[in-house]
Amino acid sequence: MTKISPSILSADFSRLSSEMDKIKAAGADWAHLDVMDGMFVPNITFGPPVIKDLRKCSDLVFDAHLMIQDPVRYIDRFADAGCDIITVHCESEGDVQAAVRKIRDHGIKVGVSLNPETPLEKIMPIMDDADLALVMTVHPGFGGQSFIHDCVPKIRRLSEWSEREGRDMEISVDGGVNDETARICVDAGATVLVAGSFLFKSDDMAGHIRDWKAMRRSE
Ligand code: DX5
Ligand code: ZN
Repeated sequence: MTKISPSILSADFSRLSSEMDKIKAAGADWAHLDVMDGMFVPNITFGPPVIKDLRKCSDLVFDAHLMIQDPVRYIDRFADAGCDIITVHCESEGDVQAAVRKIRDHGIKVGVSLNPETPLEKIMPIMDDADLALVMTVHPGFGGQSFIHDCVPKIRRLSEWSEREGRDMEISVDGGVNDETARICVDAGATVLVAGSFLFKSDDMAGHIRDWKAMRRSE
């Protein structure tokens, strides 16, 4: 089964609580929470106080994607807010390894993400300490961009590496996921699909989630 993590970046922020209910009712496994600081990416979203309040009204797995500089400064606050998975970017300024250790110290799952132009080699030294790799298939910062097909070999190589090493690791793909690209990602070895604009614009979010969850690698 493929896990589906709808990104609430495309939700209506004036009624986030009911948007969380909507993705849960549609069959989502996780809720993808895009945190942006206006520095690592040219956009600002929300932080620990909003996540803490969402935690009161949702029992979905909180899959936080920190697009922020020097993330180690904020790990305690995101963990205390109730995140279940915290993903940091290998390109962030500051001590990313220290951020990874801090996430682990909180007993929650560690994710490491890489931008489309970043070679896989950059995250491999950290992968031993990670539970999830988040492969960006758009430039982080905004929803609604087109999937960058050049990133697909990274999904495939991560999947092969994880199998070879006998790792129980999630390979998540984020950006431009729709019916067509979901298939490509799963065939390359993705185990989690993050999707924002496509799911929130759809008249049948539940139908897409059901179909994507049922996808198996076809090669
Ligand atoms: C982009 C975010 C994504 C975004 C994906 O920086 O990390 O999670 O919400 O949006 P779509 O699915 O619209 O590409
Ligand atoms: Zn994201």
